[in-house]
Amino acid sequence: MAAPGEFPLHRPAVWVNCAASLDGRLALAGGRRARLSSPEDLVRVQNLRARSDAILVGVGTVIQDDPSLRVHWELLDEPPGREPTRIVVDGSGRTPEKARVLDGSTPTIVATSERSRRTYPGSVQTIVAGRTNVDLAELFPMLYGLGIRRLMVEGGAQILASVLRARLFDRFTIYYAPVIVGGATAPPVVAGRESHAAEEMTSLELVALERLGAGYVVTYVPSSPAPVQPPAP
Ligand SMILES: NC(=O)c1ccc[n+]([C@@H]2O[C@H](COP(=O)([O-])OP(=O)(O)OC[C@H]3O[C@@H](n4cnc5c(N)ncnc54)[C@H](OP(=O)(O)O)[C@@H]3O)[C@@H](O)[C@H]2O)c1
Repeated sequence: MAAPGEFPLHRPAVWVNCAASLDGRLALAGGRRARLSSPEDLVRVQNLRARSDAILVGVGTVIQDDPSLRVHWELLDEPPGREPTRIVVDGSGRTPEKARVLDGSTPTIVATSERSRRTYPGSVQTIVAGRTNVDLAELFPMLYGLGIRRLMVEGGAQILASVLRARLFDRFTIYYAPVIVGGATAPPVVAGRESHAAEEMTSLELVALERLGAGYVVTYVPSSPAPVQPPAP
């Protein structure tokens, strides 16, 4: 187990990626998984995964979707290569015992907090970063210290909130599917705290916009910290 402070104060290059409906939802009512990516977007995502040293998700996504977090090489026009390390952010040890990420098939890290007493199979490395929640600003330099240089963050809504609002990213790509989910319980792209004033919003800069199959892909970088001004009335 790694202790805070053992690693240099660098962090990996962080690429955040998700698929959303036109009304900005990540999933169906209550968080039920929605297959929002088009076939073309699935290939784009697998390319991103294949070029990452690690893929990170929150425990909410593991509980809801049970993803393998492996590269689907069959969708890429190349032979199978090295699998990225799987990272689950799980502050209290809620990862189900039978979750696919704990199957030992590829290197896996559970990033947890001091409040967790959970133990994991021997194939899983645990990293403690933070007292109650996982402190991502503490975790990312630890991952860099483990040799992870390109980190892909795939969600869900709470993790996206933490990474985007703390500006712990270099690229943020959303695939917008031409569908509307609606309702009140489908998770938004970004959950977490409310913004009550314009200066509490997080500013991004658009760097690319392209059509992909039936949908479109938008890429942003963090903008300068200047607050976004509300539109004139
Ligand atoms: N469309 C897409 O591209 C996409 C991708 C991924 C997921 N999803 C969807 O997203 C939904 C899951 O999102 P979610 O918000 O419920 O869960 P999540 O973001 O995957 O995980 C959130 C959980 O992680 C733990 N955590 C620990 N430290 C944290 C930190 N610093 N910041 C944020 N979380 C931290 C917390 O649990 P503890 O307090 O127990 O530690 C928290 O409840 C599912 O519906 C899934 O289908 C969609």
